[in-house]
Amino acid sequence: MTQLILDRRNVLRTGGAALFLALSGGMLRAANSAGRPLPEGDAYAPWSLWSDPSIRNTPMALVAAGVIAANPHDTQPWLFAVTEDSIEIYADTSRHLGAMDPYIREMHLGLGCAIENMLTAAGPNGYVAELEVAPGSLVDLTERSRPILAARLRLTRIAGAAPDPRYAAIPARHTNRYAYDLARDPPQDWREFTRALGADGEIKIFLFDAASPQRQLFDESVVEATEAIIADKPMIADSDRWFRASSREIDAHRDGPTLDAAGLSTFTLIFAHLFSVSPETAQRAWLDQTRNVQLATAPVAGLIAVRDRYDRPSAIEAGRIWQRLHLDATLRGIALQPLNQPIEMIDRERQTGAGSAWARRVAGLTGEDWQATFAFRAGYSPTKASASPRRRLGDVVRS
Ligand SMILES: Cc1cc2nc3c(=O)[nH]c(=O)nc-3n(C[C@H](O)[C@H](O)[C@H](O)COP(=O)(O)O)c2cc1C
Repeated sequence: MTQLILDRRNVLRTGGAALFLALSGGMLRAANSAGRPLPEGDAYAPWSLWSDPSIRNTPMALVAAGVIAANPHDTQPWLFAVTEDSIEIYADTSRHLGAMDPYIREMHLGLGCAIENMLTAAGPNGYVAELEVAPGSLVDLTERSRPILAARLRLTRIAGAAPDPRYAAIPARHTNRYAYDLARDPPQDWREFTRALGADGEIKIFLFDAASPQRQLFDESVVEATEAIIADKPMIADSDRWFRASSREIDAHRDGPTLDAAGLSTFTLIFAHLFSVSPETAQRAWLDQTRNVQLATAPVAGLIAVRDRYDRPSAIEAGRIWQRLHLDATLRGIALQPLNQPIEMIDRERQTGAGSAWARRVAGLTGEDWQATFAFRAGYSPTKASASPRRRLGDVVRS
């Protein structure tokens, strides 16, 4: 018989080891062995349906891999037009982040992430995929009222499947916002792999070790940019509007940042599920966690830089590099998290005509020949990251 025990962590545990339950939002929810409530419900189904036999070896298998890629604020800003031998990828401009992403630069990075997953899934599903990317500058791309074609995959059938080791990592990759182990450095061969991703002269990856002078500049930029975003009312409102605080909101929207993926301690997570907190409290917690957990425990931080951060193909390419880096890290057991606040401030100061202090500050880390478009941290985390919700294929495929 199942025996329920209430312990000090407010966690109900069954007599058997297999099933754990946590009291959350007044309801019992599945939990891991530490009592942390696990995300559950149909909004998480795309993580297991992505390689369902019903779509395997069809173009829909590539789309299903694409939709579980990283993307800004889990806005999932994509639409796909699918035929037997091509997939068009559109920027769904209705899902833009407003003042957080005024040039839809991050949106294009997110499209690049989806494209990388789709290309990774092509071989194992019996396709060779050729990528064409729309040219131009994001600065001129002011359209926000209809989807915009960003890229096309041309698919050719091959006999049999061409395996790709990163394919297996697609459903296991999650953004990890928990504390990392500061004393455990990612190995040299990971650093070499990471730097080699930028070997073509158009992309460069910079890595900053804890305690180096450049790392101090990186950390200060991230903390001060977080403060600047919180102080900028349109920015923080455009960010907060995507936050999904309850299971009901997650089920309704199937997108956005959630409590479960926020990297909170078990106690804080259960508390936050039980009692709703004010936006101001949540923003203070974000700043505190950024400074005292995410930066303070990361052995390595990094930047992905391009020649022109507003060049559309470069934004898509940088997104592809992030996704590849994340799939590879997943196979190695290395945790990653973007920390893009300083670059978001570069966009914002440009949009508002507030000068270029943030751009100059970040250029201090890369040199003037490069423009950082993505910032992140890396390390080993004792805590497994949770999945975030995703919309159904039917929501993102255009007829
Ligand atoms: C362009 C881009 C910018 C992002 N910026 C941040 C960030 O600043 N902080 C953060 O914690 N996550 C950031 N993320 C991660 C997304 O929030 C995450 O990919 C999304 O919520 C989906 O979750 P998943 O990666 O676990 O599937 C970013 C992702 C992308 C692609």
